[in-house]
Amino acid sequence: MLTPEENDLLCRVENDAPMGQLMRRHWVPVCLIEEVEEPDGTPLLVEALGRRYVAFRDSNGDLGLLDELCPHRRASLIYGRNEEAGLRCLYHGWKFDVKGRCVAMSSEPEGSPLQGKVRHRSYDTVEWGGFVWAWLGEADEKYPFQPPAFAPTEDTPIAILKVRIPANWAQITEGQIDSAHSSSLHSSDMVPARVKGAAADDKSWYRPSTDRSPRMQTQTTDYGFHYAAIRTPMKNAATHNYLRITEYIAPFTSLIPPNSSYNVATVIVPIDDETSHFHFIAWGGQDCPSTEDWRKFNHVQKGIHLDDRWVSRRQPENRFLQDRQAMKLGNFTGVKGIPNQDIVMWVSMGPIVDRTNDILGASDLAIVEFRRLMVDAARRMAEDGSALGATEPRPRHAAIASREGVFSKDLDWRTLSDAATKAAE
Ligand code: FES
Ligand SMILES: [Fe+2]
Repeated sequence: MLTPEENDLLCRVENDAPMGQLMRRHWVPVCLIEEVEEPDGTPLLVEALGRRYVAFRDSNGDLGLLDELCPHRRASLIYGRNEEAGLRCLYHGWKFDVKGRCVAMSSEPEGSPLQGKVRHRSYDTVEWGGFVWAWLGEADEKYPFQPPAFAPTEDTPIAILKVRIPANWAQITEGQIDSAHSSSLHSSDMVPARVKGAAADDKSWYRPSTDRSPRMQTQTTDYGFHYAAIRTPMKNAATHNYLRITEYIAPFTSLIPPNSSYNVATVIVPIDDETSHFHFIAWGGQDCPSTEDWRKFNHVQKGIHLDDRWVSRRQPENRFLQDRQAMKLGNFTGVKGIPNQDIVMWVSMGPIVDRTNDILGASDLAIVEFRRLMVDAARRMAEDGSALGATEPRPRHAAIASREGVFSKDLDWRTLSDAATKAAE
């Protein structure tokens, strides 16, 4: 349980809310590269942390990210003409390049000094790992972009699905660090099997345990925290544990334990206090799926399951298209696709879940740790301006990895994590 004040500190990101300030001290994954791929293509409305921007790729292939509203009389630039190396506002024809410089002012007299004085606010971007990352904070606090844990190199194979969700970022993030729910909510898609470790094919995920009530252990790190969910394995139950170790890299990223084919991560970016972009990512490994196959496997395809703004056709008004007949026949949720099952739960909680009124059990230990960590981080942000994960020396994300497997009971998962992390350095 949290107090109302703590819940606000955790959840709210708009205006000067400390959590929003903290997030703006990180490079923010504001959209997918695929959304702004085409030179002179349709400008994209970018919404992040309660603010609106316009992204466009100019005739030279350079990417611009500007405040959405034209500095003249504040019409939206998303309707503008993207042509001849700049974005032209439709209203009076002022035109801006990717740096926000005003390069034409057709409504003003020829040679007007105003043109040289106008500079629209622009934001630095980096394209990496399928995302456009933007520095949305103060320019003097900017530090160099570093590759995220899920795309350590520029050519890391990666498949991303994206959904716009009418729920606050923190309740979605709590779903990433909640190993216990997978044995219930996802039980029809994550099935126990006599496998060595987690496996995947184009129908299901498999894991070597039937244990539905994992024991949890957490540990704080300089980038956030990690935890182990400890289950009894199907084989060697007397001497071994089935461990699933999840990494939370504050504030946006979670590394979910991998399977034998690929690694799994999630990235959750607040659009505003009550809406978020959820990204579910397969990357690296022996057999990373294509983006198309990944979205198909998860029943989250644009144009089929989602509209062109990444909004799901499954909504509370249609009971998320839940199939009660399938439930009678044995499907646990009546909802196809692992992320779709999660989304029903997150949205059903309301836009910002009331944490003053929930009851936590032993399997919620990682949830307790997440809340404590991030409420403290928001308080520190408000008190002395220090942002978790963004102050020197900054943690190296490429060295962080989630893991899973059946291990001897003698093994301390923290040393497993440390040893492997060192090996990766
Ligand atoms: S409002 Fe954009 S040019 Fe006038
Ligand atoms: Fe889930």
